[in-house]
Amino acid sequence: MTDISFVERVAIVTGAGGGLGKTYALELAARGASVVVNDLGGATDGTGADASAAQKVVDEIVANGGTAVASHDSVSTPEGGAAIVQTAVDSFGKVDIVINNAGILRDKTFAKLENKDLEAVLDVHLKGAFYVSQPAFRVMKENGYGRFVFTASNAGVFGNFGQTNYGAAKMGLVGLSNVIAIEGAKANIKSNVICPIARTRMTEELLGPLADSVSPELVTPLVTYLASESCEQTHEIFSAGGGRYARVFVGLAPGWFAGKGASVSADDIAANIDQIRAQDGYIVPNSIADELQGLLPLLKGEK
Ligand SMILES: NC(=O)c1ccc[n+]([C@@H]2O[C@H](COP(=O)([O-])OP(=O)(O)OC[C@H]3O[C@@H](n4cnc5c(N)ncnc54)[C@H](O)[C@@H]3O)[C@@H](O)[C@H]2O)c1
Repeated sequence: MTDISFVERVAIVTGAGGGLGKTYALELAARGASVVVNDLGGATDGTGADASAAQKVVDEIVANGGTAVASHDSVSTPEGGAAIVQTAVDSFGKVDIVINNAGILRDKTFAKLENKDLEAVLDVHLKGAFYVSQPAFRVMKENGYGRFVFTASNAGVFGNFGQTNYGAAKMGLVGLSNVIAIEGAKANIKSNVICPIARTRMTEELLGPLADSVSPELVTPLVTYLASESCEQTHEIFSAGGGRYARVFVGLAPGWFAGKGASVSADDIAANIDQIRAQDGYIVPNSIADELQGLLPLLKGEK
């Protein structure tokens, strides 16, 4: 049993004015963190703004005896991202934890998707995570400690009808987290991704009968763990919903090797497609180096 504490830790939670982000901010603050509660306060499609969204969560934290400040900057510009991190540094002296959670939806089928809906979704989810995480990473590197949690989605990792913009942005976050995990390793910076399933304003119409069983509070414990010093995992993806927590991973199977120096035709691919696709004996590479380590002996004729 660990007693997970955030005393003397400084956390930024983006999009923490409601939904999932609010539960993370409340929980981290209850466990002693000083929290920057960031939220633009707009509608689900990203339009509008309302400073009271973040402030209400700050008021609740303070009323509970915790420490928090509000930030109303948008994650979707470099200036906004820098201002959010600066708020943490100015208010609390550093930043130890970034939970990239802010998000919007502009669902359209691919045939009907307009450029403005692509841009808006990429700006908030993917570029927004860059804009907040990069200045935070620099502070963490200096301090030799950091924890990132990125919010992907099963819509990207597994796919979902009508969400090309959202799915691509969310899968992009997996790539961002993977590389941060590698570049941050020496400085004790860990980076992981979650794919949540929870009843919020974003999903209440989609979930149907599932809605009552998937409270946001059931995602919070995993995020709290990943944001903590107790978390030894990095470079990983987790699904969390309704009380089920499970690893999601990208695996590399042994495949089919044509032989050293062989020439290969499309017909050879067709003939061997079952072996190429077979999943037995996969590894979960943690870098390109892990993949090459398996390939090199084949290329050298050692296997
Ligand atoms: N609820 C789910 O089942 C589910 C599933 C997969 C992924 N997600 C992701 O989880 C995250 C949280 O979503 P939620 O379900 O709590 O929805 P939500 O709409 O309640 O929360 C998103 C928050 O982000 C804020 N926000 C939007 N644009 C912003 C910007 N530019 N700058 C700062 N804040 C901004 C919103 O004001 C809102 O409070 C999102 O990234 C979403 O894509 C949710």
